[in-house]
Amino acid sequence: MSDLNPILSSSAQSIEAYQQAIEQSTQAVMQWLKQPEMYQGKTVAELRERINLDFSPEGLGNETAIARAVEYFLKDSLAVHHPQCVAHLHCPSLVVSQAAEVMINATNQSMDSWDQSPSATIIEIKLIEWLRTRLGYQAGDAGVFTSGGTQSNMMGLMLARDAFFARLGHSVQQDGLVGDLRKIRVLCSDSAHFSVQKNMALMGLGYQSVIQVKTDECSRMDLNDLAAKIDQCNANGEQILAIVATAGTTDAGAIDPLRAIAELAAKQNIWVHVDAAWGGALLMSEKYRDYLDGIELVDSVTLDFHKQFFQTISCGAFLLKEARHYELMRYQAAYLNSEFDEEAGVPNLVSKSLQTTRRFDALKLWMSLEALGEKKYAEIIDHGVTMAQQVAAYVTEQPLLELVMPPQLASVLFRFRPEQQLDDAAIALLNQKIGDALLDSGRANVGVTEHNGVTCLKLTLLNPIVTLEDVKVLLSLVERTALELLSK
Ligand SMILES: Cc1ncc(COP(=O)(O)O)c(C=O)c1O
Repeated sequence: MSDLNPILSSSAQSIEAYQQAIEQSTQAVMQWLKQPEMYQGKTVAELRERINLDFSPEGLGNETAIARAVEYFLKDSLAVHHPQCVAHLHCPSLVVSQAAEVMINATNQSMDSWDQSPSATIIEIKLIEWLRTRLGYQAGDAGVFTSGGTQSNMMGLMLARDAFFARLGHSVQQDGLVGDLRKIRVLCSDSAHFSVQKNMALMGLGYQSVIQVKTDECSRMDLNDLAAKIDQCNANGEQILAIVATAGTTDAGAIDPLRAIAELAAKQNIWVHVDAAWGGALLMSEKYRDYLDGIELVDSVTLDFHKQFFQTISCGAFLLKEARHYELMRYQAAYLNSEFDEEAGVPNLVSKSLQTTRRFDALKLWMSLEALGEKKYAEIIDHGVTMAQQVAAYVTEQPLLELVMPPQLASVLFRFRPEQQLDDAAIALLNQKIGDALLDSGRANVGVTEHNGVTCLKLTLLNPIVTLEDVKVLLSLVERTALELLSK
């Protein structure tokens, strides 16, 4: 049946094939959701051995292809929704986000031009307008949905660079980079996300262009060091394109002092981009919104909805304070955003995006806001932040656990510290092994990272259905695993 009509279309046969394929997949997902394990605990070698391609000239048909995907992919997937799955900024998704995906995928709209996504274009624009108001920007629609934090950070850095050169009367877009490029600088904290370095390298300016500002004991940017680094750059004749502040560093969840950074930068006319990939969720919060104080002052912002907004991957946004800066990346393609259409007021989001063909990810956030309402959304976001505070208090009471840093967002950094005397390197190795052993067993996925040179474990407590009791179970599993490792 499905072999005869592989394309989704209006024919009865196609609709029947669609229904069969979706029902078979949905049934399999529902079965998989009922699995108690977080992960079946297979090693890299086992999965390599097990997973075999079967591409044949005749094809297997939808039904078999789906059944094979269940066998080779679904069964050995990580249960991101599992209470013991807390290693990364990798969220469980809202049910309504799944429903949105069905529509996004079936309609396959592309966000580059109005004639490929009419209603979707308007929904995305309205959502960007709403997000701007929530952030504290002036009314407008400067911003776009992106594939996530890395791309949004790229947009901020690229526009900062081009605005800098435009002030010198030079168009990077037209003429490329000029001058002593080794003197170009971007400042960010030593805890900022590595996408700052990667993006600067992609922009042809290299990791060498990134100056890391010191952080305090809680991973927040040190303002004195920022001021000193700016002075140093000026004294060396270096050109500062931007300061990247972070609202929610990947491990510590640290929020840089946004207002003070924006005020300092304004005195020197330096672009500030805030990477709020994680902390941006607090825009919804009732209890913690003031952590983002000053975010409305900066030039551009990264938001990421596939983190603490509980959207399926991918879903991010870039917001730009002043729409005029979009002129810096303008390209008129006759087939997409012609002058004729623009004069007629036809919106074309391709002018605002690094991507051309682009998914309608905005629908997920739109439907989630409608389904949950702002209050419920705030509650599930606040849950993680409050939970991290409770878990931290509990950790400090455990004789064999040591809190490495007080939590700021929804992560807890701690380490196992045995009774017997071990040097720092041995404790670091033990904690690394705890993380590995837990994943190997399939029972838990706990992050292993470093904070101020200390190897530690990380719980990223995004999941709003996780209780303190769940985390206590996990912590006792950590302790048991550690003691087993020590007894070997
Ligand atoms: C602070 C921060 N910024 C940016 C990113 C990159 O975001 P994405 O993975 O969506 O590209 C991450 C990823 O975890 C992050 O933690």
